[in-house]
Amino acid sequence: MALLPFLITLLAFAIGTLAIGQPASVIFSETAGGLKLAGTGSAPTIVIDGKDWPGVTRAGSDLANDFGLVTGTKGKVTTGTSGLSDTPVIIAGTVGKSPLIDGLVSSGKIDVSAIKGKWESFSSQLVANPVDGVVSALLLAGSDKRGTIFALYDISEQIGVSPWYWWADVPPKKKTAIYALNSKKSQGPPSIKYRGIFLNDEQPALTNWVKANYGKYDSRFHAKVFELLLRLRANYFWPTMWDSKFYVDDSKNGPLADEMGIVMGTSHTEPLARADKEKVKLWDWKSNQNGLKKYMQDGITRAKNWETLWTMGMRGDGDNSSPTLDAKSLVSVIEYQQSILKSTLGESDLSKVPQMWCVYKEVGGYYQTGMEIPKDITILWSDDNSGNIQRLPIPSEINRVGNAGVYYHFDYVGDPRNYKWINTIQLSKTWEQMHLAYRKNATQIWIVNVGDLKPLEIPISHFLDMAYDMSHFLKPDSTDPWLKAWATREFGSEVADGTAEAMATYGKLIIRRKYELLNMSPFMLSTVNYDEAETVLSEWDVLQNRTQKLYDSLDEATQIAFFEMVLHPILAGRIVQQVYISAARNNAYATQKRMSANTLATDVKATYAQDAVIQKRYHGLLNGKWNHMMDQIHFGYSNWQDPGSNSMPSVQTIGTTAPSSGIMGVSVQNSAASTPGDAAPALMGLDPYTPENRTVDIYARGSGTVGFTVTPNQPFIKVTPSSGTLTYPSGTSDIRATISVDWTSAPTGTSKVSIEIKPKSGTAVTLNLPINNVAVPADFKGYVESNGVVAMEMQHFTDRTKGASGSNLELIPNYGRTDSGLTLLPIAAGTQTTSTGPKAVYNFYAFSSASNAKVSVYLPPSFNVNPGSPLKYAVALDSATPITVSPVPSSTLGSMPNGWRESVIDGARVVSTNLGKVEPGKHSLSLWLLEPGTTIHRLVVDLGGVKGSYLGPWESRRVGV
Ligand SMILES: *[C@@H]1O[C@H](CO)[C@@H](O)[C@H](O)[C@H]1NC(C)=O
Ligand SMILES: *[C@@H]1O[C@H](CO)[C@@H](O)[C@H](O)[C@H]1NC(C)=O
Ligand SMILES: *[C@@H]1O[C@H](CO)[C@@H](O)[C@H](O)[C@H]1NC(C)=O
Repeated sequence: MALLPFLITLLAFAIGTLAIGQPASVIFSETAGGLKLAGTGSAPTIVIDGKDWPGVTRAGSDLANDFGLVTGTKGKVTTGTSGLSDTPVIIAGTVGKSPLIDGLVSSGKIDVSAIKGKWESFSSQLVANPVDGVVSALLLAGSDKRGTIFALYDISEQIGVSPWYWWADVPPKKKTAIYALNSKKSQGPPSIKYRGIFLNDEQPALTNWVKANYGKYDSRFHAKVFELLLRLRANYFWPTMWDSKFYVDDSKNGPLADEMGIVMGTSHTEPLARADKEKVKLWDWKSNQNGLKKYMQDGITRAKNWETLWTMGMRGDGDNSSPTLDAKSLVSVIEYQQSILKSTLGESDLSKVPQMWCVYKEVGGYYQTGMEIPKDITILWSDDNSGNIQRLPIPSEINRVGNAGVYYHFDYVGDPRNYKWINTIQLSKTWEQMHLAYRKNATQIWIVNVGDLKPLEIPISHFLDMAYDMSHFLKPDSTDPWLKAWATREFGSEVADGTAEAMATYGKLIIRRKYELLNMSPFMLSTVNYDEAETVLSEWDVLQNRTQKLYDSLDEATQIAFFEMVLHPILAGRIVQQVYISAARNNAYATQKRMSANTLATDVKATYAQDAVIQKRYHGLLNGKWNHMMDQIHFGYSNWQDPGSNSMPSVQTIGTTAPSSGIMGVSVQNSAASTPGDAAPALMGLDPYTPENRTVDIYARGSGTVGFTVTPNQPFIKVTPSSGTLTYPSGTSDIRATISVDWTSAPTGTSKVSIEIKPKSGTAVTLNLPINNVAVPADFKGYVESNGVVAMEMQHFTDRTKGASGSNLELIPNYGRTDSGLTLLPIAAGTQTTSTGPKAVYNFYAFSSASNAKVSVYLPPSFNVNPGSPLKYAVALDSATPITVSPVPSSTLGSMPNGWRESVIDGARVVSTNLGKVEPGKHSLSLWLLEPGTTIHRLVVDLGGVKGSYLGPWESRRVGV
């Protein structure tokens, strides 16, 4: 694994902009031709025609309030245009709906041609003498209802009110003066037409919180959610459905969504705006067709006057398949649904009625059999519930009126395991998948399952920002600049770099395995090889310490928001890691009769107790505002479903009577042996290029005190410390000694040295250490083998050449489990060949020879999104013929490819290819990615030395760089 310095690329997002990624229309100091909108004691009057959409007026009053949050003086909203001479004026309205705006257009005072007729677009500009008595006003014109609403919230965000001001307590940024720039901007239409979230898996956290605050999922709760969505420039919503009925629980829910401007949908398993909990008893199209027909008809009748994206098709009961449904009967279900949509909505042209059919789980199987889906229905492709999109439009599916979309997950209940506690999303991976979807034209709908909403603020913002304006996300290094712009908005520019680094690192730590999956036996991280368990824990430690420093530098109000979104997942996540890592080490040490097993047992208990403290801290924020949001069980899973309560992994304590050989025991990396007792293990070799330090652990195996000395048999070997005293229980029970070699005086080539560890009383231990004093040629550039291993991170290629068509292998920073990813771009380049495609070359120098070398390629758990052109790469050693590999076995839609489960659990699929014979000397490994969507995040060449571990060996040393 690589403990690399943070890698940050900048500037796809101009950091000066006030709304993430969008041009500014306000400024906080006087500006030529600008218009003062607000200051201490002054605030604008927002004029919105009484005939405009009520949702526009509602957003207008939010903006008026927001001025108050920022300057201390609230604005006001009026419908009339008289009496405005003494106040700054903002005129907002919808083209074709606001007589005020339409009048300004027809009198030639404003020009809305850039947005007219477009979806959810707006323009903002200064207008001179718009109405009697007003010299200048800021004019916000929307192309439609949400266009105007987005224009208003755009000003809110720019003046310093985050979309998350309520949901994540981001404090408004105080200002003494706000001016509108004398410039015109237009925004929209959004990249994705329908963009939204699904609140799901909502028990216990969200539901307990809702019960405590609202009693049920009522319109007061939904008003908060809808406002957040609109401020995030989203427009689409699937309501909770585990034990709630959106339209029934509160009869104001439906009209509220419509008024505010939210397009309602329902999940894939709830057709035609009806809730799962409203389903008729006998949910079977075959035997209860009339019952089901009435259910569907009633859904349309109820919601027909409200903006709705109709969920089509059907599944079985309770998010399962229906035993009596097949492709043929599903076609007749959809025919019926379309017929009643036509008759009830009075619309004969269904291409004007948004409809969606979600290819989720077994539904994929029906589609696979060749089922015809009417072209006006959007096909909603699903991921595998773990963030890997299963399928995207293929050439025969592109010219559909309804186009296609993606249903994605940041939270899930099901196989291989629930993940619904805190944020576990690597943003660079979301980018990689959604960029692919965007480029493959799945652009009609993006909806993401966000669980309880609350702990997923960052992935939600990222997803919806991409969906709104993908033009800022066309490059593979867009994630870090976005994070920086996001952190600037939420916490200020001083901590933006640090926050972006922290979240990028967190993404790499968490993509390795979900918290709920850490309880798998045997423990995933090696407690023996590559110091893996300890190294991973120290990565968390470093991250936590850096993030705590950022937190400490913030003012108290900002600390709360920072805690909720950034510090908490790192603190809470680290605790879970430490509990499992310490428990695994405790068990390993107990077998070695190492007394520090007892210390680790205490550590596990103390750390486990900290979990409840962190939970309490979260629940206690702002007098309990978010009490219950962390109610989710997250320790002690043994199958996909959550257990009834948290439980600590089992630890062992051991007796303190020393063995007859004495108190001292010795262990080395790469072996579980404890000596005396077990045969003395050989140390792993050391050469000038070994990336990790070679160490020996000397420790107490009973209570008492013993001194020891460490003596190598050669003067060029140094061991630090060279002596020590072990004391248990009330002293230092474990000492780690590090071996170093003075390579200038060591003999060249291989030799064996030994190190004697001698206690004052008891049996001495002698360890053999193979050393290899070698040097690569002075002109060599690249990786250097050590101990039969060359482990390579993608960003450290020696050379890279573009493909004939301009295609390239591009880096995705902070991607995958250790460092970075390499992917084929642009997506439109299509299938490549090894003769004309782009190539990356990784040079390495071998000292060993291997008759049967192999390379392991680490990939994300991606799917063949176009089954006709499966993911593909090729590798070649030196001038050998490239070996082409399709890493993901083919599978039918609705079932998972072989190896899927393991790859999702591990956050990686590892595919090995034989390279044949490797002689000592210079080599180059060439890599081609031959199909768009193929992404790789690590390469390990095994010359016979790779030991078992989870993340693989340490990154090899590089020279000449
Ligand atoms: C996506 O849509 C655009 C515009 O309709 C078209 O030019 C392009 O070929 C499509 N791309 C794919 C991969 O279908
Ligand atoms: C993190 O901070 C703690 C407390 O200050 C300290 O004990 C620990 O050594 C630090 N760890 C790292 C890896 O910096
Ligand atoms: C190896 O040991 C040296 C000296 O103690 C230390 O500076 C270095 O960080 C260690 N390297 C690793 C990879 O732990």
